Order: sequence, then C-alpha cells, then structure tokens
Amino acid sequence: MSKEVILTGIRANNDLTLGNYFGAILPIVDMAKKRANEYQINLFVPDLHSFTTPIDHSQLQEQIMHNLRLFVAAGLPLNHPDVHIYRQSYIPAHSELAWILDCFTGFGEMSRMIEFKDKSAKLGEERVGVGLFNYPVLMAADILLYNATYIPVGDDQTQHLEFTRDIAERLNTRFGDLFSVPYQVKKQHEFFGNDQGLRIKDLQDPTKKMSKSDETGKGVIFLGDTPEVAAKKIMSATTDSLGVIKFDWAEQPGITNLLQLLALATERPQTEVNKQWEGKTAYGELKKAVAEAITGFLQGLQGQLVLVDDSALLAKLGASEKAMNEVANKTLYKVQKAVGLR
Ligand code: TYM
Repeated sequence: MSKEVILTGIRANNDLTLGNYFGAILPIVDMAKKRANEYQINLFVPDLHSFTTPIDHSQLQEQIMHNLRLFVAAGLPLNHPDVHIYRQSYIPAHSELAWILDCFTGFGEMSRMIEFKDKSAKLGEERVGVGLFNYPVLMAADILLYNATYIPVGDDQTQHLEFTRDIAERLNTRFGDLFSVPYQVKKQHEFFGNDQGLRIKDLQDPTKKMSKSDETGKGVIFLGDTPEVAAKKIMSATTDSLGVIKFDWAEQPGITNLLQLLALATERPQTEVNKQWEGKTAYGELKKAVAEAITGFLQGLQGQLVLVDDSALLAKLGASEKAMNEVANKTLYKVQKAVGLR
C-alpha cells in the first residue's frame, strides 16, 4: 500500500511571517523530520497563487527561491526519498485540474469564502482579480492531485480545506472514485496536535490575523526581521487595560497572542506557559520574555538560512518536480477520462 500523503503550500507573495512559520511550516517540517518513514511529505510553493493579491513581479523569482530555502533552514530533510519539494507552476496538471474543478464549483460556494470577503474588502473592487475569487479551487487541485489526506494549515484556510473535501466527494459521487478525500478538520487537529489550526494575531490589532499581505507590516513579524526590529514590534504590541495576565482570546486577545507566541517559540506546552504567567500584572515583563524568545528563534532560523546549499536544493527540486509530474499526470488522466476528455 502506498503511504498517506501530508501536503502543504506557502505562497511567495512577500517575506513569510511567524504566522506562516508556526501555522504551516513547523507542523509539516516536524512530520518530515519524525515520520517520513511512515508518510510521504509534499511541501511546495504555490507560485501561481502568489499573485492572487497584487505583488511586485520583479521580486517573485527571488521570493520563490527564498521560500524554498526557508523550508530547508526550518529543517526539511532533503535527502529523504519520500520528502518532496516543488514549485506548483512546474507541474501543469495543477492548472488543468483546477479548470475542470471550476466547472463543478458553485459561484455561491466561492462567494461565501471568508478569506475572499476579507481580502477583497481590503483591496477594493477595482483591484480584485477573478483569481482571488476562485483560488480555493486551485488549492483543492493542489491537494487532490496527490491524494493528500493530511493538510497542515492555519485556521484561515479551514474553509478551503472543507471545500476541498466537498468538491472531492462531489466528483467521486458523480464519476466514481477519483480522489482520496482529505480528513475532517477535527481529525487533522488531533493528528498534528498543538500546532494545527493556529491563528497568530497581528501585534497591533490582535483581533485580526498576522498576515504577510498586510500593507503596513507594523504588527507583523517577518522571518527576515532583524532581532532589533522584531523586539521593537513586540514591545509595542497592543494589549489591554485590564492589568492582569490571562489566556483569554475574547477578553484579552493581545495578551493571549503573546502567551501563544511564547509557548510556540520556546517549544513549551501552552498550559505550562499560562500557569507561569497568569495572574501576574507586569505586561512589560511578559513582552520582554516574548521578545527574547522570538529574537532567539529568528536568530537561529536566519543562521540556518545562510547555510542552505543552493545546489543541493536545486537538485532536489528537479528530482521532485519530475516525480510529482508523473503522480499528478496520472490523477489528471483519470479525471480527464471520467469527464469524457479522453
Ligand atoms: P498563505 O500563503 O496565505 O499562508 C501559508 C500558510 O500559513 C498559514 N498562516 C497562518 N497560520 C497561523 N497564523 C497566521 N497568522 C497565519 N497566516 C498564515 C496559512 O493558514 C497557510 O497554511 N491558499 C494557501 C496556500 C496553498 C495551500 C495549497 C495550502 C495553496 N495551495 C494546498 C495547503 C494546501 C494560502 O494562501 O496560504
């Protein structure tokens, strides 16, 4: 029997953030380090997704390479035969399958996507492309081509994961068993444990997620931030006037976000960190501890980044892209046959 596939992608539209790291990179790299003998690991750059929101296209090539290097710096073992790293646009089956799935997707279904509503509200009608509207369909194709069942993503992608399950089931019902259906979100959370389904909040406005497409970047910690810049952003994080530390997303989202970051960056259980800090009143002390943990984490990651061997990375990319084209084309052919194109 072939191994189950764990798969995720991270867009290359800007420098990555702590949210991307803890929400998606960490859980999959952890699996790749510990369980690549049991599961196949696919980590890819969805480069076609990178301009669903406006970007500087002259930077895209470098940004794609930078993301790939970050995966390696985060600890992705390139020498494991069941770990694959690739760029979406090098495997044309992604866009082909997306088109077919588009034709079985409801307009209303896409209109209900919260990410679309949020992002399009920010951009204004003139700047909203159709690609932003139906990118969840391309995302479904990214997953279904490889029959992936475990998809570590942040909480903002939950709805897209549910859509992937729906469209897979819809086509399976109509045309016979074409796709493996990814597991329900609850099961994904159980599988990945603590790290799954996270939503790291913006430091300035802790009611919204920390996002790499945020135009000011003031409340966002980028993985390329210098320790000084990162520490400054943490020290000026918005908190509240309640004056007592408590892990409570509803009443104290700023403080709770800091407690969460502290647990993640120090790799300690959230309950343990909460126990240490809850009831204390010195917000400044908590910020200092978070700043220290995060700057230590960034220094470690950035130190690894400069050590990444580009030639080994490019060799792995070439090999993975060849192998994944074969897998993806097989699934695509099955679908083409089922809908009558072959
Ligand atoms: P993207 O590039 O916006 O974000 C990449 C991953 O980072 C997670 N993330 C967060 N997690 C926790 N807290 C945050 N503040 C935070 N911000 C971002 C996202 O949830 C995501 O997991 N459509 C996807 C990319 C994609 C994909 C796929 C993912 C394309 N095809 C197939 C999985 C499978 C996206 O826009 O992610």
